Amino acid sequence: MVLISPETPAEESAVESVHAAAFPTDDEAKLVAALRQTDAFVPSLSLVARDGDDVVGHVLCTRVSLEADPSVRALTLAPVGVLPDEQGQGIGSSLVQTALDTAADEGFDLVFLHGDPDFYSQFGFHPAGIRGFENPFETPPEVFMVAVVGENAGEGGALSYPAPFDDI
Ligand SMILES: CC(C)(COP(=O)(O)OP(=O)(O)OC[C@H]1O[C@@H](n2cnc3c(N)ncnc32)[C@H](O)[C@@H]1OP(=O)(O)O)[C@@H](O)C(=O)NCCC(=O)NCCS
Repeated sequence: MVLISPETPAEESAVESVHAAAFPTDDEAKLVAALRQTDAFVPSLSLVARDGDDVVGHVLCTRVSLEADPSVRALTLAPVGVLPDEQGQGIGSSLVQTALDTAADEGFDLVFLHGDPDFYSQFGFHPAGIRGFENPFETPPEVFMVAVVGENAGEGGALSYPAPFDDI
């Protein structure tokens, strides 16, 4: 049975190994390691999926800021990864849903991400451009999405991401 809870310090390298295996390059593993060193890191939103003692998946949400309204508490969900042999069993979905539930419980308002609309729309993500948010990256508009998890949804505008995203 797979259980999800915040990563422990002892699991940091295993978390990075999951992303190195899930993605074609080690960019996401390096991103996680770099984001842990920033003020944007929220320990309770670095969530590990465990099968026994084995780390089989991980999702990270880090803080982003709305330049027009710093009172809005916003996050970006990136990355999420599951070991290739463990994919297709609902682990990724559980990680995303637990991240959203935790974000809501902790008083965050918005969760942004860049990803496949077919996968993420089931969790309430929808195109962020429709709400007036400016895509900070050169990705197609439909992959830039947001889920509203709190009361203060903001009125759009530019977003400021943690510096390690500049290297992706
Ligand atoms: C994306 C990922 C985290 C999903 O984890 P998972 O445990 O396989 O997900 P689940 O079992 O909960 O859900 C699987 C469903 O999502 C779909 N899916 C999986 N990866 C997807 C992707 N990248 N884009 C769109 N749909 C995807 C599958 O087709 C499957 O759909 P089905 O249930 O209708 O058959 C995992 O496939 C992964 O690590 N992929 C490589 C890294 C990656 O691409 N991360 C996301 C970047 S946006």
